[in-house]
Amino acid sequence: MNKSDKINSSSSESRESMEQAAMQDEQVQDVHAQLMREKEEPKEGFSPVPIFLMFFFAALCFWGGVYLVEHSGGYRWDAYSPDFDPMADAPKPVEISLFDRGAKIYRNQCAQCHQANGNGVAGVYPPLVASSWVTGHPEVVARILINGLNGPLIVKGKSYNGNMPAFGPGGLGLKEKDIAGVITYIRQEWGNAAPDMTEQMIADYSSQYNSRAAPWLALELKEDLGPIPEVVPLEESVVGAEETAEL
Ligand code: HEC
Repeated sequence: MNKSDKINSSSSESRESMEQAAMQDEQVQDVHAQLMREKEEPKEGFSPVPIFLMFFFAALCFWGGVYLVEHSGGYRWDAYSPDFDPMADAPKPVEISLFDRGAKIYRNQCAQCHQANGNGVAGVYPPLVASSWVTGHPEVVARILINGLNGPLIVKGKSYNGNMPAFGPGGLGLKEKDIAGVITYIRQEWGNAAPDMTEQMIADYSSQYNSRAAPWLALELKEDLGPIPEVVPLEESVVGAEETAEL
């Protein structure tokens, strides 16, 4: 064997083995092709909610709304009462009397100074019980409530010198109805027996006095009073019985 033969034979051998390998590659590709056909590639992302579910929930919400409208009894507070009649008109809220309204206002706004029993605190807060300021001319007490009161004052023979806050719009801003209520209350509670202070009267006094900035002095309170407005009289009304106003 010469040298070139050797090379030839070895190169033909390697070609053979390479051809064999190529065939194997083909086979491998076949197998891969089969695998690719049979398996799904996993992919990333979101799958959308089935559209029928959306329609289903929309229909459910609509049905819920219809159900509430038909079965809520108009959201009335008396819907659970055994006498409930869904066809009847809703009951009107009870309008409490001026006096009852005033009792509530008094408890919240006045009692801390004038005390729940209306007797005040000796030397500091004057009493409202049997005070001529309270039961006398309605304009006097309206002035006190709307603008407040300052300086020396004599109530039932005792002198005071404090500050009574204003409750009109320039002060603590009670509604006219509430001022009328609390005055009616103090004029008729604890044995006091003066006529009502109506909302209309307070509206009239407010239009006169709301713009006044300074609180009243006791000396001014009984000056330039208007005529006492006609009010439906109380049964055992004793208007003016306290007209022995000290000052
Ligand atoms: C912060 C304490 C205080 C509060 C709250 C208060 N007052 Fe007075 N009130 C006084 C003082 C002090 C006087 C006396 C003022 C003076 O000395 O000039 C007075 C005087 C009065 C007077 C005239 C004097 C008398 O005793 O008759 C009346 C009426 C009155 N207050 C009603 C009320 C009413 C109604 C309320 C609630 C809406 C009220 N006050 C809330 C402190 C208060």
